[in-house]
Amino acid sequence: MYFPKQIELIEVGPRDGLQNEPTFVATEKKQILVKLLATTGVKRIETASFVHPKAVPQMADAAEMARFSLGQGLSFLTLTPNQKALELAIQNNVTQIAVFVGASETFNQKNIRRTIDESLVECAEMFARAKEEKLFIRGYVSMCFSCPYEGAIAYEQVEKVVRYFVQHGVDEISIGDTNGQANPKIVYERFKKLTEDFPQTVFVGHFHDTNGLALANILAAMQAGIEKFDTSIGGLGGCPFSPGATGNVATEKVVSMLHQMGIETGIDEQCLGQASAYVQTMFL
Ligand code: HMG
Ligand code: MG
Repeated sequence: MYFPKQIELIEVGPRDGLQNEPTFVATEKKQILVKLLATTGVKRIETASFVHPKAVPQMADAAEMARFSLGQGLSFLTLTPNQKALELAIQNNVTQIAVFVGASETFNQKNIRRTIDESLVECAEMFARAKEEKLFIRGYVSMCFSCPYEGAIAYEQVEKVVRYFVQHGVDEISIGDTNGQANPKIVYERFKKLTEDFPQTVFVGHFHDTNGLALANILAAMQAGIEKFDTSIGGLGGCPFSPGATGNVATEKVVSMLHQMGIETGIDEQCLGQASAYVQTMFL
């Protein structure tokens, strides 16, 4: 088995976690959570999403959260689904953006109201603009293993979006098990093939934990050489356009597993415990 010395965890709870809450979480509470997360030693936090407030009302405070994150001196990512979002991010001095395209046609249309091909054309224009502004670009590929609308997703569907992202010079690609239905075998095989086909690309594993297999999937992805994973404090979250999906794998569980295995994350478990305890109270 392959055990890297170090793994980077990217905290996505304030975005992927809170976007799925049934009611809007007050901006002040989000800010307390982000501050607590910043004390843990996690290097990057996804703190905002410039999406349409009617589509995802929970993220309506994106500009405020971006300004707050800047004020705290954080290294933070914001989601930008289209050109309008990118311009809003630039206006708010964001330096790291994340675009997202589905490997599943039906999901992409439900999520961002575009066909995959339309999304890719828009992405090319966004990447050019983002590069002018010297932004760090993350590309998310969603539903990389299976889809609640289409069932099994073929490798070629994932590869098409990944190749486009790579050709347009994204800085990293997060491979999403958006509905949390993947298993360690397909995860290992898919990441192995991706890393063989795109040896220069930085891949990140993004596992939702619907079936309780996310930790096993992380271990499987690690065996294929993946050393960066998205995780969510308290296991918060899901995607409003992925019915039945639960939260991302909990940061606490991943940190605990990795530390027991002697793999460094740079994250302080005691501070993480405080952030986790806050999550239990923030919806009261
Ligand atoms: P649309 O309605 O198709 O946009 O929404 P449009 O271009 O047709 O414009 C319609 C109106 O919306 C216009 O306003 C625009 O200005 C406005 P009007 O002229 O009618 O007054 N508009 C916007 N307003 C605010 N922010 C914007 C924006 N864009 C246009 N960015 C859009 C397209 C993508 C915006 C919409 O469908 C949307 O916001 N979808 C939300 C998708 C989302 O947030 N999904 C969850 C995140 S993805 C995820 O969770 C997966 C991930 O975690 C990885 C994984 O797990 O796989 C990342
Ligand atoms: Mg997600």
